[in-house]
Order: sequence, then C-alpha cells, then structure tokens
Amino acid sequence: MFSKKIKEAELGYTYDDFLLSPNESWIEAKDVNTTAKVSKNFELNIPIISSAMDTVTETELAIALAQVGGIGVIHRNMTLEQEVEQVKNVKSSGDLTIRDVVTTNPESSLDTVRDLMEQEAVSGLPVIEDENLIGIISKRDIKPILASVSDKKVKDIMTSDVVTVEDSISPLDALDIAYENKVERLPVVRDGKLVGIITIRDILNHKKYPQASRDKEGKLLVAAATGPFDLERAIALDEAGADILAVDCAHAHNMNVVNFASTLKDNIDADLIVGNIATGEAAEALISQGIDGLKVGIGPGSMCTTRIIAGVGVPQLTAISDVADVASKHGIPVIADGGLRYSGDIAKAIAAGADLVMLGNLLAGTYESPGDVVVMNGRQYKQYRGMGSMGAMTGGFGGGADRYFQEIKGHMKHSKLVPEGVEGAVPYKGMLNDVVFQLIGGLKASMGYCGAKDIETMKKVAKFVRITSSGIKESHPHDLLITNESPNYPTLD
Ligand code: XMP
Repeated sequence: MFSKKIKEAELGYTYDDFLLSPNESWIEAKDVNTTAKVSKNFELNIPIISSAMDTVTETELAIALAQVGGIGVIHRNMTLEQEVEQVKNVKSSGDLTIRDVVTTNPESSLDTVRDLMEQEAVSGLPVIEDENLIGIISKRDIKPILASVSDKKVKDIMTSDVVTVEDSISPLDALDIAYENKVERLPVVRDGKLVGIITIRDILNHKKYPQASRDKEGKLLVAAATGPFDLERAIALDEAGADILAVDCAHAHNMNVVNFASTLKDNIDADLIVGNIATGEAAEALISQGIDGLKVGIGPGSMCTTRIIAGVGVPQLTAISDVADVASKHGIPVIADGGLRYSGDIAKAIAAGADLVMLGNLLAGTYESPGDVVVMNGRQYKQYRGMGSMGAMTGGFGGGADRYFQEIKGHMKHSKLVPEGVEGAVPYKGMLNDVVFQLIGGLKASMGYCGAKDIETMKKVAKFVRITSSGIKESHPHDLLITNESPNYPTLD
C-alpha cells in the first residue's frame, strides 16, 4: 500500500517544463487585448497584481501599478491604522474630485484671500455663505485690484455665475464643460452645497493614464491584505475604501480558514480573494463559501522555503491547471501567485488556466517598492524578503507569522519561530512602468504567436509542448558572453 502511493503519485509540472507551441495566427502582438478579471466584480487592463509583501507593495507601488492598469495588494505587516491609511492614500491619489477644498467667504479682504491662496498653493477659491456656494474667486481676478490701493472685498469681484458639476461626472465631460466655459476649475455641488472641486490640471493628469484601473468614481483601484481570521482588519480596510481584500495565508485549504471566509465575505462590501491553494479540492471548498477570486501557489516563490522546510507544494503549472479546472466552471478568476521569472511565464500561467499573475520578485527592486537602494559589488540592489522569513515575522507588525499559523507572544524567543522564507536582495530595476511595459510586451508577443486576441482565447487556444532539460538549455541564450544586459532578460551576477 505504501509502494502504491509512490507508484501512483502524480507528476507535477512547472514553467520550465513547457514551452508554448506557435499556432496559426491572425492577430499581431500590438492588437491583442490583455484585459483580465481579477475578481467577480473587477476587471483590469493588464493581468498583473502585486504581492502583499513588505518589500513589494505599499502606497507608492500600488498607485504606480494601478496607473498602468494592474492592481497592488497593500501588505499587512503593519498596524491596522497604517494599512487603512495606505489604502486611503491610494484611493485619494486618483480622485478626480478634490474633497478637502479650501474656501473663502464673501466678506474676506483681498489681502487675506491672496495670502490664503499662497499658503495653500491654489490659484482659486470657492466662496461660501451659509454653507452654500455663491461664487468663485481666482488669483487672476485679484491681481489687478491688489496692484492699486483698494478696500474691495471678495463679494465685490468674485464671479457669481459659477459653472458647477455633479459628483458623478466623467473626466471627459468635465473637460468639455471646462473648455466650453473657459474655466480652470469646476466646483462639485450636491443640493447647492460644495462637496469638492475638479481642476483642469487634475483632469489632464487623469488622462495621462488611459489604461489605469479605476472604480466607478474614477479613483484608482486598490486591494489590501488581511489575515485569515482578522475580521476587525477586514472591516476597517473595507470601510477605508479597499476595492478588494486578499486573505493572505500560506494554506487556505485549512478548514478553519475556509469556514471563516464566508464570515469575512458577509461583513464586507469589497470583493474577497482567498489563497493560497494548489488543488481542485481546495478550490471547491473555498468557492462554496462565496469567495470572489482564488490565489494559487504553495511554495513556488523565489524566496519561499515551504517546499524545503515542510516538503509540501505542487509545481505551479499543475497547481494552476487543477484549480482552474474547478474555478472556470464557477466563473471564479484564478491568480497564479509566485515563481514567475520572465514574461514568458505569464503567458504560460494563462495558458494553464490562470486569469492573471501575482508578482513579488519581478516588482521588488523597482523604484516604487519600499526600501532603499543599496550598492554591493558595484551593483544596485533593493531588499526582498519572504513574509515567512525570520526578518518579516519578527520585524514590522509580525504580520508574516500568522500567515503560517504562528504567533508572536510577548518577549517570545525568535528561535521558537519556524521560518518558511528567506531574506535577500534583488537588482534595482528602475521605474515600475518600464518593468511592466516589458512584461506586457512579452505577454502580447506570446499571444501573437499563439493566435490569441484576448486572455480568454489564450486560455483556450494556447498549446503546451513538453520539453527536456536540453530544451530549456536551448531556450536560454547560449554559447556567447552577454555583453549588454537586455531590459527583459536580467542576468544576476
Ligand atoms: P515571487 O516568486 O514572485 O513569489 O517572488 C511571491 C509570492 O511568494 C509568496 N510568499 C511566500 N511563500 N514563504 C513562502 O513559502 C514566504 O516567506 C513567502 N513570502 C511570500 C507569496 O504568495 C508571494 O505573492
């Protein structure tokens, strides 16, 4: 009976075990559509989501990734208040409407108004009386009058005939109205009361990122990590405006995690993604709890040691395809999390049934990731560490520990923790948008070779060819000394 276990063991495959076979194609890379569903209610323009790791995703990276069409998951190795703040920062950064508006009143002197504008670095102010918007005054209006001696007040020179808009206006409509009326700012009113202001500068900034992931109000999308049993954090993040919550756990087929998923789901408005899992059975169990997305990957990550420490894991392409067989029947998106080294791996993950990929290593080391650049042996690096590494579990808020069902109590000795990740450094990669451009460029090239016009077609038509170790050797550059590093083929020395 034991020998049967060995004989009947399934062979597990991962990225380097396959290539994609070229197909007859009627589509070119530049014309493919990379739109992908990340959860039941959210779609992204590019199939990339960043890892909830303290060396990968905080506000800055989440904003940069959402601007180019993906979504960031703010990590949870910080206090609840800090994570809430980070979510709010991402949401407000992409807000077309400025909510915290500086105003003046009709009786103010022009000197006071000028000083206020300088202090707040704004070039115009709405004028409010009894909470109602009654006018608007700009730097341009007051400049000629201040040049001469005058005791005029705001009410004497303000524009009373104010062009206003409603909260729900789209950026394009706002721009049209601003141009038609030759105004630079549009007060946003609800029932005659000022609730915000839209400036042309913000509209143009908004248009700079046509691919950006936005909610219905035009704000950038953001996801945030929560613990498998942390209802308080989940509710706080939901109230802070997170669009998606990601339950961040090393083994989401733990039945306590499965059962608690429905409690989390019942208490939030945001979509709920749960992971990580590696089997179809785990997918069935979680889907029955009403979750909105699944994350796949036990131990494929570049800094993970779970497969070595616990001897547990499923090579990633086998895991993705097993989960996708189940998830696709229920219309639940699948996120392939960890182990991706090149853009070609994104294409292979999708061909195996994933909707999108979660990247840690490939985004760590960008300008926008947390941490400083350090120089070692004349080369620039940034820190990258596993959330189950000793450093992450004992530093920060200890948010790495409960991911692995471990707990830090009082002055407990660190030797009582069992790490499942290591700490290291990755080469500094420059700006995130350049990195993502190369990754998506590679994916699009792949879709062109496979004849897939979009992600759903890629899942259906892409065919795998199983390769040997000689095949993988032949695939990489060989028999030359690389003299210039390519932006999409890093060499670690
Ligand atoms: P990559 O390969 O992109 O993987 O660097 C990132 C993913 O790895 C997971 N992760 C861990 N897994 N021990 C693990 O076994 C760890 O310490 C650890 N930290 C992160 C996580 O799913 C991430 O998205």
